[in-house]
Amino acid sequence: MNIEYYDYNLSARDYNLLRQSVGWSVSDEVSSKKAIDNSLYICSAHDNGMTVGSGRVVGDGVLAFSIQDVMVLPAYQRHFGIGKKIMHKILNYIKNNASPEADIYCMSAKNREEFYIKLGFVERPTSQLGAGMVLPYEILQSMDTDG
Ligand SMILES: CC(C)(COP(=O)(O)OP(=O)(O)OC[C@H]1O[C@@H](n2cnc3c(N)ncnc32)[C@H](O)[C@@H]1OP(=O)(O)O)[C@@H](O)C(=O)NCCC(=O)NCCS
Repeated sequence: MNIEYYDYNLSARDYNLLRQSVGWSVSDEVSSKKAIDNSLYICSAHDNGMTVGSGRVVGDGVLAFSIQDVMVLPAYQRHFGIGKKIMHKILNYIKNNASPEADIYCMSAKNREEFYIKLGFVERPTSQLGAGMVLPYEILQSMDTDG
């Protein structure tokens, strides 16, 4: 299998197809395009022209990096090391841009922790770091944020 990897070569349509294939929510293409365009770095994997995986980095480009949406088409998962290669390209981008004080974040999907631990990530909380926190969209919408 000859998987090819490209930087900044992911369409909103393919991004949405990948999201759908792994069972994640899918936005309209305008929103997905905006998300892609506003990413710091995007890597995608291709098999004979078909997009079979991708991952992206968002953040400020020097002090804060968040790894988002690492995904591989189900038929290609766990066979070819595609997710690992995408992560290596992402980590190479961050390594080349991060200052020593940078925070490098990733929120693992349920039961994917081992994939990231094998790449050097540390699970929170630790003795030094508190839990990772997320704010559900519905709670945000119901909040009075004006006062
Ligand atoms: C998680 C995901 C990106 C991994 O990509 P992949 O191409 O299937 O994984 P790879 O073949 O590159 O595996 C790399 C290593 O991680 C391990 N690994 C991969 N998925 C794993 C999992 N779910 N649980 C435990 N270990 C896993 C592999 O065994 C391999 O180990 P090795 O280096 O010792 O051989 C892919 O399975 C996927 O898209 N899953 C659905 C979407 C998702 O949950 N993404 C993560 C978002 S946080």
